[in-house]
Amino acid sequence: MNLQQMGNFGAKKQITIGRNDPCWCKSGRKYKQCHMAMDEKIKRIQDSGHIVPDHSIIKTPDQIAGIRQSAKINIAVLDYVAEHIKEGITTLQIDQWVYDLTTKMGGIPAPLNYQGYPKSVCTSINDQVCHGIPDEKVVLKEGDIINVDCSTILNGYFSDSSRMFCIGEVSPEKKRLVEVTKECCDIGLKEVKPWGFLGDMGQAVHDHAYANGYTVVREIGGHGVGLEFHEDPWVSYNSKRGQEMLMVPGMMFTIEPMVNMGKVDIFIDEANGWTAYTEDGLPSAQWEYMVLVTEDGAEVISY
Ligand code: MF3
Ligand code: CO
Repeated sequence: MNLQQMGNFGAKKQITIGRNDPCWCKSGRKYKQCHMAMDEKIKRIQDSGHIVPDHSIIKTPDQIAGIRQSAKINIAVLDYVAEHIKEGITTLQIDQWVYDLTTKMGGIPAPLNYQGYPKSVCTSINDQVCHGIPDEKVVLKEGDIINVDCSTILNGYFSDSSRMFCIGEVSPEKKRLVEVTKECCDIGLKEVKPWGFLGDMGQAVHDHAYANGYTVVREIGGHGVGLEFHEDPWVSYNSKRGQEMLMVPGMMFTIEPMVNMGKVDIFIDEANGWTAYTEDGLPSAQWEYMVLVTEDGAEVISY
């Protein structure tokens, strides 16, 4: 299963609104004084052959405020993991921390029971690319690199981000993979601004990984997020500048490339139907930022 098949990616019909009607964003302002100019600009770009977002994925100020509250929990949970993760603990212990702190703060771990996923968090070690399932038998040992991917629901609003952790002394090769993957996200983030294209970000991520001798997983990518766990658009990091969806203020999506030290190929564990591994057994790293496109750039909502 890939994230393209997982989410809620249906295009919705746009309804025509009169200039003096209330804006679709529920600001209470007339359309002509609110989103009308932006919609016209989007329409012109669409007419020139580009993919554009529809209203359902452009967040209103109220929605953004709600999503920020959800992200507060997500960030706190990852901060907690960062402080406590160490050699000798099990990935099931991490799952307990995530469940306990998320619920204590009033949230729900989004992965739990999501399309049958059995745990509250994903913990992916070394050659696990993503969707590693916490397990009492998996003990962290010195030299491991692990991605902890947290997602929170609060009052129906979703947040999603992940970080890498190095357990004890890690080989220079693995350490560099972890660092370069973080750099990929930061370099991608610089490309997030209104009226650019997702491919601007995707190509920047891709080029930095390949310049360092790495590959970027093709089948699994990022996604819109906020009102659902996985919304439009599906986000590739093997895309080209000037292509993919137009970015407009109020859009939210993840930058979450999976960067392989070796070959690009992956396979899914048939026994659990979730966990992706590198085909060649070499390590893979991933960081995930959840970003908002603002009027003049981008803001990281969860990390
Ligand atoms: N958190 C992952 C993401 O970044 C999705 C995990 S789906 C789950 O999109 F069910 F495995 F949790
Ligand atoms: Co995600």
